Amino acid sequence: MSASDATALVAAARAVRLNAAARYSGFKVGAALEAEDGTIITGCNVENATYGLTVCAERVAVFKAISEGHRRFRRVVVVADAATPTPPCGACRQILWEFGGNLEVILANTTEETGRYQLADLFPLPFDGGSLE
Ligand code: THU
Repeated sequence: MSASDATALVAAARAVRLNAAARYSGFKVGAALEAEDGTIITGCNVENATYGLTVCAERVAVFKAISEGHRRFRRVVVVADAATPTPPCGACRQILWEFGGNLEVILANTTEETGRYQLADLFPLPFDGGSLE
């Protein structure tokens, strides 16, 4: 797989999206994070009756990855069944930045890729560990 070929990563995000526990919004999201060693770690959104305890697909993927020992990441794919791109929410941008830095963020839906960004462009002027020094 070449650096720009995200076929496997997009496929992984589409597949895990089908596991989403999205009974309240009906909006299923899948995320696939690529670790530096090429491992793909996936996550889906997990909703809750309190609504506020819902966790987005991206954060599920990051927390799974960290828990499994991965520390460096290259790219993340986010997939939803929507004509317009579904970018990571603010909370997820903070978490992706914390653990992934300036990741490539690839957006897709069930049939096509809808955009590619660098996280630094989606999340300028972050508060992070450097802010505490
Ligand atoms: N959601 C994600 O999982 N990731 C995003 O990038 C946007 C929103 C989820 C949260 C909630 O379960 C549903 O989509 C509707 O907001």
